[in-house]
Formats: sequence, C-alpha cells, structure tokens
Amino acid sequence: MERNHKKQCSIVVAYDRRRGIGIDNKLPWGRSLPADLQHFRQLTTGGTVIMGRKTYESIGRPLPNRQNIVLTHSKLDGIATASSLESALQMASKDTIYIIGGATVYAAALKSNVVSRIYATEVDAELPADTFFPELDDTWRKTSEESHAADNANIYPYIFAIYEK
Ligand SMILES: NC(=O)c1ccc[n+]([C@@H]2O[C@H](COP(=O)([O-])OP(=O)(O)OC[C@H]3O[C@@H](n4cnc5c(N)ncnc54)[C@H](OP(=O)(O)O)[C@@H]3O)[C@@H](O)[C@H]2O)c1
Repeated sequence: MERNHKKQCSIVVAYDRRRGIGIDNKLPWGRSLPADLQHFRQLTTGGTVIMGRKTYESIGRPLPNRQNIVLTHSKLDGIATASSLESALQMASKDTIYIIGGATVYAAALKSNVVSRIYATEVDAELPADTFFPELDDTWRKTSEESHAADNANIYPYIFAIYEK
C-alpha cells in the first residue's frame, strides 16, 4: 500500500506486560485505568479514528468529535464503513488518522507500512487476555515515555510511550 504523505497515521493501543489488549471483546483491565481513556480522548479528538467491527461493537457508539470509520465486510447502521484499510484511509477527511484496534486491524496496519507512530499505553500488569498486540520489528524505536504510578482510580502503574520509525 502507498504511504499517505499528506496525513499522519498513528496507532493508539494499550497493552499489558504480555501485550494483551482484550478479553471477551472488552479491555483486560476493564474500567480500572480511566487515565488511559482520558489520554485516548485527548489524543484522538478532532481526528479520524479507524477501528475494526468488533472494537466498534465493544465501544457501542460512534466516538464523539471524531470522524469514525469502521472496517467490516458488512454494512452497519449509523456509521461509515470501509471494506479495506486502504479504502478507510482514502475516506479519512481529517489531517490526523488514528488506528485504534483491535488486533486484526493493528496487524494489517503494521504490515501495510502506513503507520509511522505508535502511541502505546504500557500497563504494568499480567491480566487474562484473548487478543494481543504484535511484537514490533527493529525498524521501530521508542522516542518518548512517561511513567505513572498506580493511584486510587488507576489500579495498575502504566507508561505512556511513543514509538516511531
Ligand atoms: N487495548 C486496546 O488498546 C484495544 C483497542 C481496541 C480493541 N481492543 C480489544 O480488542 C478486541 C477486538 O479485537 P479483534 O482483533 O478481535 O477485532 P477487531 O479488529 O476490532 O474487529 C475485527 C473485525 O473487523 C473487520 N475487519 C478487520 N480488518 C479488516 C479489513 N482489513 N478489511 C475489512 N474488514 C476488516 C472484520 O469485520 P466483519 O467480521 O464485520 O467483516 C473483522 O471481523 C476486543 O477485546 C477489544 O476490547 C483493545
């Protein structure tokens, strides 16, 4: 796939120590990391978010103040859909595009080489999971990290990291 030079295309993901991102179509840490949800909202607001159909069902509604595009081979009511990552990228109308999961969409995006930045929340826990974020190859380097201790609302320590290539 050709890289879209005009638009920044990033992955946004949160994974635990085993790179688990989901279980039973929910987050492994449930609602126990509100700081990550806030970080996600601040980062993606105003941009285009591209997600898989299962992730959309898990969220349960379009994300406000963002252009939402759902990857699926079906049609869905009330939301824009695309049948390939390439067509979703072409439909994106905002300058910043965020690929927000799940595992199948992350894998396709990494393989297609359209992503140049990964915003990763690294959760310091080992939780039951059935979906995982792929290991990155050595073309990626960590360019930033911000560590946070657990607190009353966020029950695990976590790092906001950025990887770039
Ligand atoms: N921790 C995180 O950062 C994070 C982020 C997002 C999601 N999650 C978790 O990840 C899990 C869901 O991930 P998942 O991998 O099972 O599902 P997913 O990627 O969200 O959705 C998979 C579906 O998306 C569609 N799809 C995917 N790639 C496509 C492509 N290239 N072209 C057309 N359609 C495509 C297909 O839909 P159809 O079957 O309709 O054709 C496919 O069945 C959940 O547990 C969720 O909570 C975690």
